[in-house]
Amino acid sequence: MSRPFTYGNLAISLDGRISTADRALHGFGGREDRDLMEELRSQADAVMIGAATVRDENPRLRLSSQKWIEARRLAGRTSQPRSIVVSRSLDFPWHERELFRASEHRPLVITHSDHPGQLLADLRTVADLVLVPVTQHGVDLAIAMDRVHQLGVDQLLLEGGGELNFAMLAAGLVDEFHLTLCPLVFGGRNAPGAFSGLGFVAGDQALLSLVSLRQGADDRLFLRYRCLNATPR
Ligand SMILES: NC(=O)c1ccc[n+]([C@@H]2O[C@H](COP(=O)([O-])OP(=O)(O)OC[C@H]3O[C@@H](n4cnc5c(N)ncnc54)[C@H](OP(=O)(O)O)[C@@H]3O)[C@@H](O)[C@H]2O)c1
Repeated sequence: MSRPFTYGNLAISLDGRISTADRALHGFGGREDRDLMEELRSQADAVMIGAATVRDENPRLRLSSQKWIEARRLAGRTSQPRSIVVSRSLDFPWHERELFRASEHRPLVITHSDHPGQLLADLRTVADLVLVPVTQHGVDLAIAMDRVHQLGVDQLLLEGGGELNFAMLAAGLVDEFHLTLCPLVFGGRNAPGAFSGLGFVAGDQALLSLVSLRQGADDRLFLRYRCLNATPR
């Protein structure tokens, strides 16, 4: 099986959370973090998120900077990366989300085939589906990444949230993470964590090595880590 080179990007609080307990705070990384996000999106063939992020936000996953759009055009690429949503339930309001409005690319939805036929047919009016087998904890992400790679996605940006970050990391499918560490504490047991889901058991935890560290404005730290458990591509 093959897979794309996959790099994650997320802004985290000092306590490792990616939003507040009411899941309502987005974009807290600041200006430099937005600039980094644009740069990382500009390098991606596709940007992938979990369905809870689609439920909580109205993510667009698009490049807005003309500088990067132009750079992609000059390199002979599409002006925008493709969007990918991962969902086992398909219970997210795609009719109301900008991601699913007509654009240069139809989004891809990674799910399984055991849904009512009408639901899959309705979703196919606005998205292309990647149907993969179900495992104990969701869909088989290794098979999904192989299919996505075969569809031409060689550089994949993983933009969270925490459950999908963990599932991808645990499966050895992520090469690097870019973290913007912000001087905020969200606290509370309900604030989503950067790597939530099931979690590792002792001795099994993922190891990463620091590639670079930069102090930005407003006490932000920009960290880049390589995942040591990444499977060969
Ligand atoms: N600070 C940041 O950089 C940042 C970035 C992204 C998101 N966020 C925030 O993070 C929150 C969402 O994070 P989250 O951890 O709750 O959720 P998430 O990772 O965005 O989405 C989780 C959902 O993804 C689907 N999923 C994940 N792994 C799967 C698998 N192996 N097979 C099938 N489906 C799978 C499932 O969807 P179904 O339930 O539909 O089956 C699951 O419930 C939001 O509030 C968002 O605003 C912050």
